[in-house]
Amino acid sequence: MHTDIEEILISEEQIHQRAKELGEMISKDYEGKRPILIGLLKGSVPFLAELMKHITVDLEIDFMDVSSYEGTESTGDVRINKDLENSVKDDDLIIVEDIIDTGKTLKKVIEILYSKGAKSVKVATLLDKPEGRITSDIEGDYVGFTVPNCFLVGFGLDYNQKYRNLPYVGILKKECY
Ligand code: IMP
Ligand code: MG
Repeated sequence: MHTDIEEILISEEQIHQRAKELGEMISKDYEGKRPILIGLLKGSVPFLAELMKHITVDLEIDFMDVSSYEGTESTGDVRINKDLENSVKDDDLIIVEDIIDTGKTLKKVIEILYSKGAKSVKVATLLDKPEGRITSDIEGDYVGFTVPNCFLVGFGLDYNQKYRNLPYVGILKKECY
């Protein structure tokens, strides 16, 4: 275990097992369709890679980079740093996120995707932190794990761009931030 980690909250095995279950659910729900997975950079990358292996319908992937976080505090400010490569008009989209906290990022991204003419927009997230929510109408459709309101890193989640490569989700030691 990394020396900056207080405790492993979710192991690599648990993540792999859950990604398989979610992939199977998505495969059933999207039978006969060809969804586009919209990965939100950069935190969703490991989860998207794990999840897509278990989706059996044809799909496409595309990425957006939006940011609303600086350090451990939300600025409440959502910027688009990188937009989608292809049109999503009349497409079925599944946003892939690392974690839903306040819900502000997703609310904004969902609005943007519908304004681009998406037919449907669902959300797959590795983690959900419901205690952090300030927009009550935002929920994950495919949720890996519900987690407590503490600062987590690993499996894509970072603190100042560090720890994304950890193969598990862990609680960062207080003295590290
Ligand atoms: P929201 O708009 O507050 O829901 O922000 C979601 C984004 O905040 C996620 O995509 C993460 O990038 C970041 N975030 C929220 N909680 C954590 C955490 O515990 N660790 C690392 N990043 C987090
Ligand atoms: Mg993020």
